[in-house]
Amino acid sequence: MKTPGGPDAAKRRAGEHAAALVTDGDTVGLGTGSTAAHAIRALGRAVDDGLDVRGVATSYASRDLAREVGVPLVGLDAIETLDIAIDGADQVSDDLALIKGGGAAHAREKIVDAAAERFVVVADPTKETPELDRSVPVELLPDARATVERAVRELDGTPTLRAAEGKDGPVVTDNGNLVLDCAFGTISNPGALATDLATIPGVVAHGLFVGLADEVHVGTDDGVTVRE
Ligand code: 5RP
Repeated sequence: MKTPGGPDAAKRRAGEHAAALVTDGDTVGLGTGSTAAHAIRALGRAVDDGLDVRGVATSYASRDLAREVGVPLVGLDAIETLDIAIDGADQVSDDLALIKGGGAAHAREKIVDAAAERFVVVADPTKETPELDRSVPVELLPDARATVERAVRELDGTPTLRAAEGKDGPVVTDNGNLVLDCAFGTISNPGALATDLATIPGVVAHGLFVGLADEVHVGTDDGVTVRE
């Protein structure tokens, strides 16, 4: 779908639309990535205008942005539930299953998004797909690399260690772990694969988010489409 202003304009529309759902007194999950960043900036402007919220960051990047734009923060370890979480996705299927973790933040994102009363996904149209078919990011303890790779192959997946951009060595997550991007082709049963990946010893979190999203706000040519 053509989006005037390009993908970033669509991301901005989606992020700002979702930020407008936040109400006074809310505890808000602050997602990671360029689309969620638009929501965080919009929240910063709303705080300037008097909105009373506290944010829970899903990564160092979202924490730093929230500080920069003036969204008050509370630690993930200090909360049990959130009113709303706003987060991006790498793919969104017709039945609202997600692949996340393009920014290697999916472990904390899953805790925050799952703890929210309302989990709102923000996306541009390039993220929409009938069925998930991107590689699934899998965060793992560094010492478990060989055993997790073997287990992924036994699930007919092809694991690739994620390399750090612009420098030697692998990506290291905010939690000090590695990421394997695991290709499975078209994922016809995301729920079953999610369970299989979660039960591999050494896996900290994988990027399949199944049954978590309440709604998806997709930036379009002239506004935002909401899917529930
Ligand atoms: C980070 C994520 C992001 O939400 C996902 O990669 C989408 O990013 P963007 O909005 O920049 O396209 O899951 O771990």
